Amino acid sequence: MLRQALLFASRSDGFRKIVETAPLSRDVVRRFIAGETIDDAMRVTGALTDEGLLVSLDVLGEDVHDADQAGATVKHYVELLERLAGTDLGPRAEVSLKPSAIGQNFDEALALENARRICTAARSASTTVTLDMEDHEQVDSTLRILHELRRDFPDTGAVVQAYLRRAEEHCAELAYEGSRVRLCKGAYAAPDRVAFTGKTEIDKSFVRCMKVLMAGKGYPMLATHDPRLVDIAGALAVLHDRDPNTFEYQMLYGIRPQEQRRLAEQGAKVRVYVAYGDEWYGYFMRRMAERPSNLGFFMRSVATKS
Ligand code: FDA
Repeated sequence: MLRQALLFASRSDGFRKIVETAPLSRDVVRRFIAGETIDDAMRVTGALTDEGLLVSLDVLGEDVHDADQAGATVKHYVELLERLAGTDLGPRAEVSLKPSAIGQNFDEALALENARRICTAARSASTTVTLDMEDHEQVDSTLRILHELRRDFPDTGAVVQAYLRRAEEHCAELAYEGSRVRLCKGAYAAPDRVAFTGKTEIDKSFVRCMKVLMAGKGYPMLATHDPRLVDIAGALAVLHDRDPNTFEYQMLYGIRPQEQRRLAEQGAKVRVYVAYGDEWYGYFMRRMAERPSNLGFFMRSVATKS
């Protein structure tokens, strides 16, 4: 119930105004968000990669409704990728991209064109792009964009959300040579008709999907903080005799940072998803929906500041 309410709030302009103007401590938002500027993103990326971690940078913003806003997102990504090109980070720091931030919700062809421009800039920076997966209503559109992009940019990463009833089928289709596939549980509100809604069912689906990806020929990117699922991933890697270079773990910036380092120290590839920018509301509220204890932390901060 609380999760659904928070996910509803994450898409409500009314709540957005309340939360954005609440005198909440910067520290609360900063726990999950790397900062507002490209300089902040580069600083955090440098610190994480110095510790042997990999990074996927996300410019915050989603659900844009006109071509100018979409164009501004593209410009920001290109600028970020030009900054990355001036470093020796290469594929250690890639970008994650939300199709809804580049026009998907009103013009799929424009979103594809915009994604191509970002992939071109990523290629010049010797790195890659992963297309985030958003609301269940956009899954088919995102997969169409992905398949078109992969004709010219075969290293474009896909995302499968385990909570979708079709997730296992998507994994089977995507588990081919060279195919980078991030598996996550899924962070949006979705009805019972298309998605599993209970935690156990979602976790079981995650395991089934992982089995398909780890047995397949692609490059699985296992995005979870769940200790049980991380352990199962390790066991599947042993079962399929996978070299640690043939798959990676992914976690969000600010969540289980010690576990990120522990896995990396054991020789695993671990990529941290680093979101930055001033459009933090939707991303932040989805993190609140994932964990009630975060909500307590957030509410206490609002209460003590007001
Ligand atoms: P779950 O939420 O069940 O948590 C398991 C454990 O992890 C908890 O018990 C706790 O210990 C820890 N934990 C989890 N979330 C926490 C939090 N917010 N604060 C503190 N501790 C927490 N979703 C999507 O729909 N589309 C996408 O493209 C992506 N992309 C993506 C990239 C990466 C790198 C990650 C890690 C996640 C995503 N997600 C996503 C989000 C994903 O779908 C999911 O909502 C979160 O990862 C939380 O799910 P867990 O698998 O961590 O399990």
